[in-house]
Amino acid sequence: MNKITLLSLVTATVLFTACGEDAKKTVTDAATSVSDSVKETATSVSDTVKETATKAVDATKEAAEAASDKAAEVAEAASDKAVEVKEATEKKAADAATALKERAAATTEAVKEAVTPENAAGKAAYAKCAGCHGADGKTKALGKSPEVAGQPVATLVEALKGYKAGTRNISGMGMLMKGQVASMDDATITAVSEYMSAM
Ligand code: HEC
Repeated sequence: MNKITLLSLVTATVLFTACGEDAKKTVTDAATSVSDSVKETATSVSDTVKETATKAVDATKEAAEAASDKAAEVAEAASDKAVEVKEATEKKAADAATALKERAAATTEAVKEAVTPENAAGKAAYAKCAGCHGADGKTKALGKSPEVAGQPVATLVEALKGYKAGTRNISGMGMLMKGQVASMDDATITAVSEYMSAM
């Protein structure tokens, strides 16, 4: 209750006490009017407060919703990024593993070659023999000779030296073989024999 209202009430009380019946009615009316005015003001204030509170609640709700949306967006973006990173990492690991495997295979091959060096001279010398004896040395040359592949080195060397000297002739084709080995030196004969023996 503000000062003016209080003052009005006090005035009304004074007048009420001091005056007669007419004055009493006037004072009662005045008091009622003041009371109504106070009630009205109170109602209006209450409505304004209610409205303001409702607005504040709405604004808070909106802000909360917006924040929640934003959070969901950020979470989704983070999740996408995580998947991307995971995939990239997996691919890198797979690539690295493949590269390592290839490297290991190449190394194994290199080690093999270093341990059992290829008989290059023997291989080169055998090139002209493959037509009759087969690239794998398992063809019976002209249907006559035994397989040369896998025979002991010493046996092959002895046979080739025999053909070269013209002293070997197993199935009538000794002269043919003489022509094949005539120009070969001992080292080449040994090399080609080792090559056939290793087949
Ligand atoms: C045109 C076909 C022909 C060609 C090419 C040929 N050979 Fe022969 N080779 C024969 C025939 C046929 C015989 C059997 C000879 C005989 O009657 O003793 C033979 C026999 C041999 C034998 C003896 C096998 C055995 O166990 O009695 C050897 C070893 C051999 N050849 C190695 C070679 C080599 C090494 C070359 C290449 C430098 C070669 N030949 C090229 C046809 C050929």
